[in-house]
Amino acid sequence: MSIIYHVFPDQVPPVRPAPPLPPVRTDEIPRLVEQGKVTVADALRMMRSNGQASPPGRKEPDAQQRERVEEVSEELESLVGLCRVKKLVSELKAFVEIQRRRARAGLATEPTVLHMIFRGNPGTGKTTVARILGKILKEMSVLEKGHLIEVERADLVGEYIGHTAQKTREQIKRALGGILFIDEAYSLARGGEKDFGKEAIDTLVKAMEDHKDELVVILAGYRDEMTRFIRTNPGIKSRFPIHMDFDDYATEELLLIAEAMLERRQYRMAPEARARLVQVLDGGGVERPQGNARFVRNLIEKAIRRQAVRLVSAEECSREDLMIIQVQDFAEALPNKEALDSSFRGT
Ligand SMILES: Nc1ncnc2c1ncn2[C@@H]1O[C@H](COP(=O)(O)OP(=O)(O)O)[C@@H](O)[C@H]1O
Ligand SMILES: [Mg+2]
Repeated sequence: MSIIYHVFPDQVPPVRPAPPLPPVRTDEIPRLVEQGKVTVADALRMMRSNGQASPPGRKEPDAQQRERVEEVSEELESLVGLCRVKKLVSELKAFVEIQRRRARAGLATEPTVLHMIFRGNPGTGKTTVARILGKILKEMSVLEKGHLIEVERADLVGEYIGHTAQKTREQIKRALGGILFIDEAYSLARGGEKDFGKEAIDTLVKAMEDHKDELVVILAGYRDEMTRFIRTNPGIKSRFPIHMDFDDYATEELLLIAEAMLERRQYRMAPEARARLVQVLDGGGVERPQGNARFVRNLIEKAIRRQAVRLVSAEECSREDLMIIQVQDFAEALPNKEALDSSFRGT
């Protein structure tokens, strides 16, 4: 894998409004710091607002920016699994940071091309990671807004000559300052030379040149299809240097994802329900379910609805009852119920 990086040394980090501080005389500030009444960061802000520190418009200290980058990176770290993706993202962050420092030190910098290919099955976290990456790149001042515009073939390809270029340009315009995420990107190459999909690819490639510093494009989809698509489109291959592979989650990872999703919603599983879930994730002796984390999310959401139906007519219902997902709440949400029932009973 090759990665080429580029830095924008004259970009100023976005300034976040901080809560206002009470007015304090400048000569009193060191004492307040010594007494632990204000933090060093707040002291600097006080001095600045008193006109004693750097003039307005100057860059925020690096430390503050790094802190914000780390805050967003935490979100990525908190995702279950995804080791390879996390490693690659931290490599990417390091490169951007070092290119920035090199620029400041007057050293030559590499041009950064951050367009990416995400390969993996549905529900493996591609969109989730892309959204967090947008935030990281924003905090690193690589992208101005860092928002994610997720599109697919139908959003880009039109029905008559000229329509496609117009539709594609519209989506690109929405994505400027952020990430344009094209799901199932290979479908753009579907109909061959005569298909309007080709026009979408050409428009996209041109926009990537025209808006080089304002846009990151991510092409996503199934591994094999993406690999074939890149191989048959050399123009795409050379412009998308970063490739990330999203593996299917293991059963233990899916279980952790389920528990985290429930915890976030203030629910948890009864031991029997948990055992049943593990069994389903393992395929229950039938077949492992498709859909990775998305399957888990749908299952959890169905179970929550079933729990509600079960409780709403109950005479009494404790706080604990409101939180617990019982095995029967999973029952109808699960595929191959009969097969599971029999294997669950050990028959
Ligand atoms: N590693 C993970 N940890 C926690 N939740 C995850 C993880 N991966 C995916 N999810 C959740 O699963 C769902 C599907 O993920 P998504 O990013 O849309 O997958 P993809 O884009 O690959 O189809 C989302 O609700 C997402 O929050
Ligand atoms: Mg997706």
